[in-house]
Amino acid sequence: MDYVMLNNGIKMPILGYGVYQVSNEECERCVLDAISVGYRSIDTAQAYGNEEGVGNAIAKCGVPREELFITTKVWISNGGYEKAKASLKESLRKLQTEYIDLVLIHQPFNDYYGSYRAMEEAYKEGWIRGIGVSNFYPDRMIDLCNFVEVVPAVNQVETHVFQQQKTAHEYMEKYAVQHESWGPFAEGRNDFFTNPVLIEIGQKHDKSAAQVALRFLIQSNVVVIPKSSHKERMIENINVFDFALDEADMTAIQAMDENQSLFFSHYDPTTVEMMTGLRR
Ligand SMILES: NC(=O)c1ccc[n+]([C@@H]2O[C@H](COP(=O)([O-])OP(=O)(O)OC[C@H]3O[C@@H](n4cnc5c(N)ncnc54)[C@H](OP(=O)(O)O)[C@@H]3O)[C@@H](O)[C@H]2O)c1
Repeated sequence: MDYVMLNNGIKMPILGYGVYQVSNEECERCVLDAISVGYRSIDTAQAYGNEEGVGNAIAKCGVPREELFITTKVWISNGGYEKAKASLKESLRKLQTEYIDLVLIHQPFNDYYGSYRAMEEAYKEGWIRGIGVSNFYPDRMIDLCNFVEVVPAVNQVETHVFQQQKTAHEYMEKYAVQHESWGPFAEGRNDFFTNPVLIEIGQKHDKSAAQVALRFLIQSNVVVIPKSSHKERMIENINVFDFALDEADMTAIQAMDENQSLFFSHYDPTTVEMMTGLRR
């Protein structure tokens, strides 16, 4: 496993396991499988409804807590200082842990400055080891970085070969914020796993399209958290540290960038209405 060093000196695995769209019931088994094949970083969120499943796996896995890196996210409806703080205590309880490695603001809506102050406080008290954001486009991220005490350690945004976030990445580097990808396979959209460019590069290295796509992000200094409910795919997705893409491979994949979301835009009013209407 390779690691990145966050701006507060904390080490984070460059590859972890995401549990979006995994039911609470299935989550314990999935996370136990993932840990058994070598994953140490787990990405959940209050909105996923499966923090308890993750917590059960943390309690049962037999791996010392300090070897794990647990991320959760504060949902929009828990926005604001008081609510965010209470929700984080609830996340701790569900995750069955005394501290959380990384807490992110899930979306830049509602009173996220208030949420961030609650996170800064918990960070100073020591029960959250790192704080950051998710889905903050460069405009929101720059604003936040300039008006908070603790600069976000991470910004988790949609990032994959079709949406490489080159401009966002430059601004994250400028503000020392670690770029983390969500949806490294674009959830399979655009015929992701049979893409001819990824397949051809994969054949050269005896790797799958999925492995090439993850390797591309890792070599671009982007943290990845692929999701799979299948153990054999979990194994496939973590086996990306025994090969390297060369310059020609990287250039060919860079050319695949369509520079737009395959999911949604925060600049689209219907997206904002949909997200701010969701309650958890
Ligand atoms: N912050 C945010 O707003 C946000 C948004 C979305 C996601 N996330 C985080 O990012 C993580 C990853 O993103 P994601 O879950 O949306 O999508 P993803 O990782 O891009 O794709 C997951 C899909 O790919 C399939 N898959 C996985 N490995 C495969 C392989 N080797 N070959 C073929 N198919 C494969 C999975 O199917 P099976 O499960 O059936 O194997 C699943 O359908 C999430 O779990 C979550 O932790 C965060």
